[in-house]
Amino acid sequence: MKISGTHYRTLWPTAPGAVRVIDQSRLPFELAFVDLMTLEDAARAIRDMQVRGAPLIGATAAYGMALALREDASDARLAHAARLLEATRPTAYNLRWALTRLRDALRPVAPADRFEAAWREAAAICDDDVEQCRLIGAHGLALLRDLAAATHGPVNVLTHCNAGWLACVDWGTALAPIYQAHDAGLPVHVWVDETRPRNQGAALTAFELAAHGVPHTVIADNLGGHLMQRGRVQLVIVGADRVTAAGDVCNKVGTYLKALAARDNGVPFVAALPFGTIDWSLSRGADIPIEERSARELTHITGRTGAGAIETVRVVAESSPALNLAFDVTPARLVTSLITERGVCPATPSGLHGLYPERRTGT
Ligand code: MRU
Repeated sequence: MKISGTHYRTLWPTAPGAVRVIDQSRLPFELAFVDLMTLEDAARAIRDMQVRGAPLIGATAAYGMALALREDASDARLAHAARLLEATRPTAYNLRWALTRLRDALRPVAPADRFEAAWREAAAICDDDVEQCRLIGAHGLALLRDLAAATHGPVNVLTHCNAGWLACVDWGTALAPIYQAHDAGLPVHVWVDETRPRNQGAALTAFELAAHGVPHTVIADNLGGHLMQRGRVQLVIVGADRVTAAGDVCNKVGTYLKALAARDNGVPFVAALPFGTIDWSLSRGADIPIEERSARELTHITGRTGAGAIETVRVVAESSPALNLAFDVTPARLVTSLITERGVCPATPSGLHGLYPERRTGT
């Protein structure tokens, strides 16, 4: 992904034992970076949402694990690091997936060699994520081409939250097909849900679409249903924080309402995700843990004043409590299809097993 002509990943090693990330809490107003040098730095960056988005959380946790082993690579340190990182965000499954991959890779490695091995594995997780997202983009592009052939004018795609380059290492999940369509000259326009309470759509998705030159419009979270009724949305595409083996999609809160509106209006609703987002141990969306975040994210809002200062102001009366559940689950029956690095499939157990035959029970 390029910003002002310079290609960036969202995190990259600057030296053995140092990783740099884009500080997403400062966007869209400032492109700032944070250096992660310790396990605690990585855990804080994830917890405070300087990095966010399931695939990027996984990649950051992998490097956090490696950083933890720099001075002390004992089994006890490994277990401590995994516990600390796993507790940072409860819903995004890529976090657990990346930690498991790291631990599996390190199991046969002697403590003296663990830091280098962990560093290599974290880099491999990042490279794999980039390739998987590129492939998701290619498979999703085929869907967009079909829609473009049936549409006069641009294909209008609605997306919720941020599942772009900033949520991954590069490309993004939901936005990868859009970038590839735009680059291929297909006319595409994106309706960007603002995504209250943290405004990942308004602050992050709009920022990266603008940086890439993709036509887009920020809308209030509640406008999508109306636009669908008026035929102004041809496709809803979202990312995912966790997908069950049955195809239920857990994503940023508000996604379910978009899926309901899409079904009522005959608009295809698809979710784009890499392998590491699929929790094969769960077959019921209701069993996915839903992160509850600080009520302050709801009662306060941050923005830039006319004078250029970044300020946070209260928008809810002090007398009112607020509930801030960060995700919801869209049942598989409302999901038209899933796009993964292996292709497009129905949101069903057999659809997923068709793409991942090695995950069939008993094999
Ligand atoms: O709370 P966040 O910003 O980490 O949540 C990210 C999302 O829910 C996004 O919608 C995204 O689709 C999932 S990550 C690709």
